[in-house]
Amino acid sequence: MIKRIGILTSGGDCAGLNAAIRAVVLRAHDRYGWTVIGIHEGTAGLLDDPPRAEALAPAAFDGTVLRRGGTILGTTNKGDPFAFPMPDGSLKDRSDEIIRGYRKLGLDALIGVGGDGSLQILRRLASQGGINLVGIPKTIDNDIGLTEVSIGYDTAVQVATEALDRLQPTAASHSRVMVLEVMGRDAGHIALATGIAGGADVILLPEIPYRIAHVARHIERLKEQGRNFALVVVAEAVKTESGESVHGASGGAAAYGGIGAWLARSIAEATGAETRVTVLGHVQRGGAPSPRDRLMASAFGVKAVDLIAEGRFDSMVAWRHRKAVAVPLADAVASYQSVDVDGILVMTARGLGICLGDA
Ligand code: F6P
Repeated sequence: MIKRIGILTSGGDCAGLNAAIRAVVLRAHDRYGWTVIGIHEGTAGLLDDPPRAEALAPAAFDGTVLRRGGTILGTTNKGDPFAFPMPDGSLKDRSDEIIRGYRKLGLDALIGVGGDGSLQILRRLASQGGINLVGIPKTIDNDIGLTEVSIGYDTAVQVATEALDRLQPTAASHSRVMVLEVMGRDAGHIALATGIAGGADVILLPEIPYRIAHVARHIERLKEQGRNFALVVVAEAVKTESGESVHGASGGAAAYGGIGAWLARSIAEATGAETRVTVLGHVQRGGAPSPRDRLMASAFGVKAVDLIAEGRFDSMVAWRHRKAVAVPLADAVASYQSVDVDGILVMTARGLGICLGDA
């Protein structure tokens, strides 16, 4: 019988994680009378002896937590337990230590809130350690398969759209082309949604090959029509025209960043326009969650607890056709969701005359 469940947040943070933790605590306590243990910093908290964790009382969730960005539990997007980076530079399999830490907490089940990478790792740990696992999808990138939305995506799009709202008047005042670089890892969901919602003239996505000549022609045509500015949104994983990946200075080979500056230079050279670039970065992850992210997180949290009560482990909660449902975790992490190049949002962008760089 279930009496005590754990919850951890893993991978990059995003807005809405605290709303999910709150929903899990309230549902587990009020409906089932379970104790909820919050594990600190994802699986890293289970490596310590004693494990870093605390009981989460419903009373602690009566005020500000729902509204707060980040995660009150902390998280990490480093330290794969199966190839854990050690101080001497070697990689060590520490999965057994993590499973031991989980056992020490006396948990009957675990809710893991993570992106596809984290959920994949948690699933491997669960099958190795016999852990009753239910996943909740979160990532601003919105690239997890089998769910229409993940926690954090809506807030990221809201922040990026607000950035376009702020860039437009200054672009018009100075007759400039403004390039906005947004996150999203290898998927262009944030860029596409932001570009449509924020009235961009050009949107470049990793999923659609482009030519600078097409972008330049579109901007010049706008000028001929009397427009003195243009707004360009580029997803961070877009490559240079010759196909090179651009990586940021801060985070090593895995961290994207910098394509905006390259694009702004290329547009300036091709059109003679004055260009400026804004790299939005982690601003997209922080701050108060949007109402929609709070809703998704709440629905996911309640559903995840109910799935544990029903014994439906090795599953992930998902949003499909206006409902929170359960999908097999293995299928969800195996089906990456990039932008559908024939989908409604790409068609909408084309229908609005937005240049996607390919024609
Ligand atoms: O996966 C979420 C995400 O914000 C990506 O959009 C971005 O590329 C990456 O994480 C940034 O990671 P970090 O926080 O390690 O810089």
